[in-house]
Amino acid sequence: MTDHDRILQLRETLHRHNYNYYILNAPTISDREFDELLRELSDLEAVHPEYADPNSPTQRVGSDLSQEFETFVHIRPMLSLSNTYNKEEVAEFYERVREGLANESFEICCELKFDGLSISLHYEDGQLVRAVTRGDGVQGDDVTANVRTIRSIPLQLAKDGSWPRSFEIRGEILMPWESFEALNRERESREEPLFANPRNAASGTLKSKQTAVVAERRLDAYLYYLLGDELPADGHYENMMAAREWGFKVSDAMRKVSSLDELYAFIDYWDTERRNLPVATDGIVLKVNSLRQQRTLGMTAKSPRWAIAYKFQAEQQSTVLREVTFQVGRTGAVTPVANMDPVQLSGTIVRRATLHNADFMASLDLHVGDHVLVEKGGEIIPKIVAVDEAFITSERGSRVEFIEHCPECGAKLIRYEGEAAWYCPNETGCPPQIKGRIEHFVSRRAMNIDTLGPETIDDFYARGLIHNFADLYDLTVDQLSGFNDTRIRSARKTIQAIEDSKQVPFERVLFALGIRFVGETVAKTLARRFHDIDTLSHASLDELLGVNTIGQAIAESVMAWFADMDNVFLVERLRSHGLQLQLSQDTLAAQSDRLAGKTVVISGVFAHHSRDEYKALIEQHGGKNTGSISAKTSFILAGENMGPAKLEKAKKLGVAIVSEDEFLQMIQ
Ligand code: IVH
Repeated sequence: MTDHDRILQLRETLHRHNYNYYILNAPTISDREFDELLRELSDLEAVHPEYADPNSPTQRVGSDLSQEFETFVHIRPMLSLSNTYNKEEVAEFYERVREGLANESFEICCELKFDGLSISLHYEDGQLVRAVTRGDGVQGDDVTANVRTIRSIPLQLAKDGSWPRSFEIRGEILMPWESFEALNRERESREEPLFANPRNAASGTLKSKQTAVVAERRLDAYLYYLLGDELPADGHYENMMAAREWGFKVSDAMRKVSSLDELYAFIDYWDTERRNLPVATDGIVLKVNSLRQQRTLGMTAKSPRWAIAYKFQAEQQSTVLREVTFQVGRTGAVTPVANMDPVQLSGTIVRRATLHNADFMASLDLHVGDHVLVEKGGEIIPKIVAVDEAFITSERGSRVEFIEHCPECGAKLIRYEGEAAWYCPNETGCPPQIKGRIEHFVSRRAMNIDTLGPETIDDFYARGLIHNFADLYDLTVDQLSGFNDTRIRSARKTIQAIEDSKQVPFERVLFALGIRFVGETVAKTLARRFHDIDTLSHASLDELLGVNTIGQAIAESVMAWFADMDNVFLVERLRSHGLQLQLSQDTLAAQSDRLAGKTVVISGVFAHHSRDEYKALIEQHGGKNTGSISAKTSFILAGENMGPAKLEKAKKLGVAIVSEDEFLQMIQ
């Protein structure tokens, strides 16, 4: 057998096993055998680049090269569905269909409404050729490279299938609950913002510029709509069953019904049963089954007349409010939290719910002992929607009032103009604020002293070892271990990590200080403009405001921070310990103003540096990077495969296009 034949054979075998595993849930070989075949294929492809195929099973792992999405105009617009929220509205839909079909008999296909993001897949000769997001319904992003990494989407249909030569199939891309929870746990440990729900997570993932990230995140897909000129049947349900035979993942929860009662039974069943599904659903979709009848009914401008969505109610439970407690955050903001009798809600036990702020809390008019309605919508944090009126008696407990003094340190709370939150102003004496600032200081993106978690900081603080972040640098191994031999190893590690942090570059030290409004980006900007902490601390308001992207609030906050003698003293202690309080010689030497006053747009895929690196280079040389092309753009730094829409716009506005190599020359 030639290498080429073996490659083709391996691809076919692997596609089949992939289908058995991800669609049928019935693998016929072990993971190890699968990996061995995949390895063999990948080795052969490496020596035969001439036989490369984007639909090869080896492409499922993705790549970390950065990509841009091209826009694709949908062959048929992607419409949305109109929503109904109760059975009366469903009955009205049923009646409209009956009238529209002049009393002809009809069937309705009932299916789950998956809560992810819709996708349109195009197949030619059994090959996946394109995957496009819904976008605005008329045009979307071509996300083919990302979609290829989703294991339940077939890249190549079985050769002996009866699929049409060319067709489109639409469905929903989802992140299963399990992957979603794992992802958020991981993000939490890295102190990255959490995704609010699986839909946002799936959508963020699918728009990722790196296919390897998508491959890692384990997305799934259900298909629910087949389009094309040569479909197998007149029935939508029958077409979907055929698609399942071709290798697509089609939900088992599809039923044809021919009466309103059967339809209600489907709704009632899934209203509770959906909680046991591995993916999020937010309703039921009802479709007239016959395509001929669908055409008779036609569309309105936005949605078909032959289909409708029925949305589930967000799950609500009634429980008893026991107490409202108040939490003080790192910035001193005070958040009220409701503590309730435990109650089962959408798969988890809920005991606490945020009440956001004083105004929200007051609007609920809560009394201790009230029965309250708790709801979990699309978000993960439960909320109290109202007092359950059914239980209100004349003898209510005392009304819950917002506190006037900090529950942690007793300081009188204050409110800043235009803000909803109350703050504890005792920045230097209030324990959660002190600990919060130290936690921020050691966090990964700041000083990255990763052996110090919140519990350790809590412990050190309780033992009186630290009161501020400068104290960290006075700690000794003996103090941490308490002369206890079993603790010595971890104490040494901690001290070493603190020692290592002295090499962290100035811009991150600046971020670590926790100056209000000075996030990572602002810290970088300030470091580049002022070079060292002394120049920055003496900068006038006008000098600060003169820096691009620094506004009044940031400038005032920086001034106020350095005007506080406690902070000046902290900085002096950091200096005496040898922290980096100025830009390094390397960074300074690498700076220039070759791109001063230039606004640059980055587009396409690059060979020598990543997009982020190019962004940093532009800033290092005094230029500004922006996202979209306008008359103000000085030039476009263009890699391979720049999007056609961008190219066109650049031509129209007469904006120069600079290649990667030309750009590197420019800043040499
Ligand atoms: S059919 C013209 N079926 O709901 C009909 N849509 O607002 C096209 N969705 O954008 C859609 N599950 O993303 C259909 N079983 C299902 C669905 C479904 C979820 C989504 C889809 C669409 C939105 C409708």
